[in-house]
Amino acid sequence: MTEIGLPLKIESLRKSYGSFEAVKGVSFAVRPGEIFGLLGPNGAGKTSIISVVVTLEKPTSGRVLVFGQDVTQNPRHTKSLIGYVPQEIINHGFFNVEEILDFYSGYFGRRKNRERNDWILQRLQLWEHRKKKVKQLSGGMKRRLLIAKALVHEPKLLLLDEPTAGVDIELRLSLWEFVQELKASGVTILLTTHYLEEAEKLCDRVAIIHQGQLRCVGETCGLIRELTMRQVQVQLKRPLANLSHPLLVSQTGQELVFRLPAAMAVGELFFDLQLDMSAVQDLKISEGRLEEAFQTVVGEGP
Ligand SMILES: Nc1ncnc2c1ncn2[C@@H]1O[C@H](COP(=O)(O)OP(=O)(O)OP(=O)(O)O)[C@@H](O)[C@H]1O
Ligand SMILES: [Mg+2]
Repeated sequence: MTEIGLPLKIESLRKSYGSFEAVKGVSFAVRPGEIFGLLGPNGAGKTSIISVVVTLEKPTSGRVLVFGQDVTQNPRHTKSLIGYVPQEIINHGFFNVEEILDFYSGYFGRRKNRERNDWILQRLQLWEHRKKKVKQLSGGMKRRLLIAKALVHEPKLLLLDEPTAGVDIELRLSLWEFVQELKASGVTILLTTHYLEEAEKLCDRVAIIHQGQLRCVGETCGLIRELTMRQVQVQLKRPLANLSHPLLVSQTGQELVFRLPAAMAVGELFFDLQLDMSAVQDLKISEGRLEEAFQTVVGEGP
């Protein structure tokens, strides 16, 4: 794929604050139409990377390209193509919700944006609150307003920094649905989240950042397969004599629990054990989760 076709390309990005290096040479690309998860523990460098993409911070070295253009060369072009939902909620003094969207529409040269803004307000369940000033909104409403603001100019690349932090479960589910709807309409999305269940559900691909370095990047299900084990619970009809097997986790009464590498077939395990299926009452296989893959990656050394 040419660089122009790529919504976002990050090349050997370094970002220092004084003598502290928060981002230590990170490279990855976000493909058209995907939801890409940028994951990592607190302080990993996620917001620092996003701040360079959205031109709030300058890179110390390396390059960031948005649809093929270096963000430092053409920040105006970048801002017209991206929507940015910051992690921090900002107060907007005495403006009401509707006025804020009008203001941002004006900033992007869209004076006649009523129809789009009304759609955004309705879709984000802010319609009934459109005449309220920011200080009259709840935390969840403020977060939705941040998302609404980022969408007024129909961005092609949307950067969501913790869009569901502090949001109740019902609203979180409706935001997931909305993000998927935006994806279906052709918007490319990069999001950060500490809810790994959310990343697992939404993201086509994820990158895991730890201490300013990229630890891994790939398809979400591929990484789970590569970095986690499957749990196999075998319920036997009758108890067996004590087993010894390298993948056996526990043996209690008639229940055996194994942890299998993703590449290993369950049949192989049964063959290994010389266990006949007629002795098996029940079998439960649980796939690994992103949470476990994440722990494997960030738990490794410094
Ligand atoms: N403006 C700044 N000046 C100095 N240090 C900063 C600044 N912004 C971030 N840092 C430091 O850079 C590191 C990375 O911070 P960053 O906000 O990018 O992390 P993050 O991955 O977004 O974390 P979180 O999950 O908590 O949001 C942290 O050690 C942080 O203290
Ligand atoms: Mg952050």
